[in-house]
Amino acid sequence: MPSHVAAFAPGRVNLIGEHTDYNEGLALPFAIEAGVRVDASATAGRAIHAHALDLGERDSYELGAEGPSPGGWRAFVRGASAELAAAGLPLRGATLEIGGTIARGAGLSSSAALEVALCLALLALADADVVPPWPLARICSRVENEWVGAQTGLLDQLASLCGRERAAMRIDFRSGVIEPVALELGDWRLVTLDSGVVHTHAESGYNERRRECAQACEALGISSLRDLEPAMLSALPAPLDARARHVLEENARVDAAVDALSRGDLPALGTLLDASHASLRDLYEVSTPELEAAVVALRDGGAAGARLMGGGFGGSVLGLLPPGALAPAGALEVAPGAGARVLER
Ligand code: GLA
Repeated sequence: MPSHVAAFAPGRVNLIGEHTDYNEGLALPFAIEAGVRVDASATAGRAIHAHALDLGERDSYELGAEGPSPGGWRAFVRGASAELAAAGLPLRGATLEIGGTIARGAGLSSSAALEVALCLALLALADADVVPPWPLARICSRVENEWVGAQTGLLDQLASLCGRERAAMRIDFRSGVIEPVALELGDWRLVTLDSGVVHTHAESGYNERRRECAQACEALGISSLRDLEPAMLSALPAPLDARARHVLEENARVDAAVDALSRGDLPALGTLLDASHASLRDLYEVSTPELEAAVVALRDGGAAGARLMGGGFGGSVLGLLPPGALAPAGALEVAPGAGARVLER
């Protein structure tokens, strides 16, 4: 058994395919270089002592006595150990030092990075067998759903777990197939721009949008919006028709983006980003004035396309900049990086 391990999990950028994951649809994310690092050292008993380095805060509890959820960052730690145990996975007492390089609440999936890094570190310390991406992503999303209170899907956790350099991933949330898609940008750049509004899914309209999608399925007698046909839209009342139409068209945009990338047609990719944003703003209604301002700042700088990214209601905007375009102040260049991994054991 190792006495010390370290694990790293990256955040993610989603190129396109928003609010499709929990509708058994398609998305095209990539892992970024910034992320969360967890150092875990074994202790003699069954106690967990966790330390959030950036906040200077601590938490201590016994394995098996995690609940009720304390909220904040502690909910992630307690949720991770509780959900790993509930999945029948081995655990040991540990001291956990949590640090990293990713901004919280900026729409780059710091939450998923934290869940994944915690789970990988706890599992490596207990010398557990490797858990494949889908089941591990499900455990992590249970942390988010049951302990943090956000009914998020599996996009962020899978992107963090399966990232690789120079590629995005086309994820099919119905078939489970994850395919790498080469991201060759040449002199073009992808940047994110923080809207300045910290978002928490638990408090935003995210859960409401999920409910609306479930209501649309119920009204149509289908099990998921992946089964939606264009002709069915007219049977739905407002705003369910608009929500469903976004999902239908966003899935198609993911495959159009894969196609544009395979042709090296980056202007076409930009047009798709713009169309995704318009749909998230007008049909899915998850934009805010601050996100709109960030999109305008990117377009004013010459972006070929820009869109809000992630759940919306705050967080970051993604922009595709052609050579010579100006990134607005505060923009962060992002490139695909390797997926989550155990660094030391
Ligand atoms: C958040 C959630 C994801 C996904 C996106 C929207 O990032 O965590 O599961 O639903 O919003 O695409």
